[in-house]
Amino acid sequence: MSSSEELFARAQQVMPGGVSSPVRAYRRVGGTPRFVREAHGSHVTDVDGRQYVDLVCSWGPMIAGHAHPAVVEAVQRAVAGSTSFGAPCEIELQLAEAVVARMAGAIDKVRFTCSGTEAVMTAARLARGATGRPLIVKFIGCYHGHADSFLVSAGSGVASLGLPDSPGVPREIASDTIALPYGRLDLVEELFAARGEQVAAIVTEGTPANMGVIVAPEGFNRRLGEIAHTHGALLIQDEVLTGFRLSRTGAWGLTGQREGWVPDLFTFGKVIGGGMPLAAVGGKTDLMDQLAPVGPVYQAGTLSGNPAACAAGLATLGLMDDQAYNKLDATADKVAAIVHSALDAAGVAHQLNKVSNLFSVFLTDQPVVDFASASTQDHEAFARFFHAALDAGAWIAPSGFEAWFCSTAIDDDDLQTIETAMTEAAQAAARAQ
Ligand SMILES: Cc1ncc(COP(=O)(O)O)c(C=O)c1O
Repeated sequence: MSSSEELFARAQQVMPGGVSSPVRAYRRVGGTPRFVREAHGSHVTDVDGRQYVDLVCSWGPMIAGHAHPAVVEAVQRAVAGSTSFGAPCEIELQLAEAVVARMAGAIDKVRFTCSGTEAVMTAARLARGATGRPLIVKFIGCYHGHADSFLVSAGSGVASLGLPDSPGVPREIASDTIALPYGRLDLVEELFAARGEQVAAIVTEGTPANMGVIVAPEGFNRRLGEIAHTHGALLIQDEVLTGFRLSRTGAWGLTGQREGWVPDLFTFGKVIGGGMPLAAVGGKTDLMDQLAPVGPVYQAGTLSGNPAACAAGLATLGLMDDQAYNKLDATADKVAAIVHSALDAAGVAHQLNKVSNLFSVFLTDQPVVDFASASTQDHEAFARFFHAALDAGAWIAPSGFEAWFCSTAIDDDDLQTIETAMTEAAQAAARAQ
């Protein structure tokens, strides 16, 4: 059996950086990415036989833990009837009905895609098509996938590599995206006063989590919707990361659902596909029916609504009832408290930003409210923290710009492992300062 070192050396011969997605390459923290052999419940096992408690959850989807029997059984049943039809199927309809029902009146229809990138790209095209306007407003440090329009001040992956906005994105496309500092309603208002009639949509993460988790100012998303609507523009709430994770109804469940307002379009990903390539854009009928074949806005996909992916998503959503969210929230409270007290005990300056069951730890003494303040973190200390945590059995994201993801599979033994790992990690971070 090959080691991670051997596999990574081979991988770099045939894949850029040896990976299929940049942040996996450990560039920010150094060292060799651990190749995963398998994962079950809360545990990831690497090819060298080491086991870790998973606090990445495949960057969000594995909310119910890995290889959950209900998900495995649903996918096995689906693939036994073929992995793809390229035609409508009942399980796709069942997932669409489940998502619409779960969003409690916020959306009437969904269009499935294979990735969050495609979902946000589709939402932006729909907004531009519906309004006949070119501009998209986004926030610096928010990530909305890697479509050209959104690779402008795009948060974690790009930030972790220290890359500027990507070469290959044409200037004309980038100039139709306006990036503002997060949380600055005054600047949003100023922009709309000057160019409001050109704006198709504001896009924001339900809760920003791609510059690390940021707590949105009270009423921020609601106010964005109001400003957009005053000027005939739309609000797209990107819930690819937060959808069906922060609550049964995502980040919207913590704000809009309670306050009685609804964004024009939502994007979902990650949890909705239970670890399979599936995402969606959702909204009310008048907007959604502007998509082909009913309307003129074109969007398509050979594998969209894939039966195996829909089966995984449906089974995962089925597992996430109120009791499961209560457990997830309680687990995240405990993990966050463990990290916080380990860093305190080691005397490492840090900020813990937490929204529901999603949190980030920034090694900085400054409050983190946007990308500029997130960038004050001590990356050298984080790199040591990361490696010590990994060596002690806690699988955390290899960048301080990421969220920590818990699953309902984490148990008391895992919390014990996390506590030991965080003590070692915090001491390693302290030695770097
Ligand atoms: C908020 C948000 N939008 C969009 C995306 C892109 O999703 P995908 O990686 O499935 O293309 C991500 C991915 O992390 C995300 O967090």
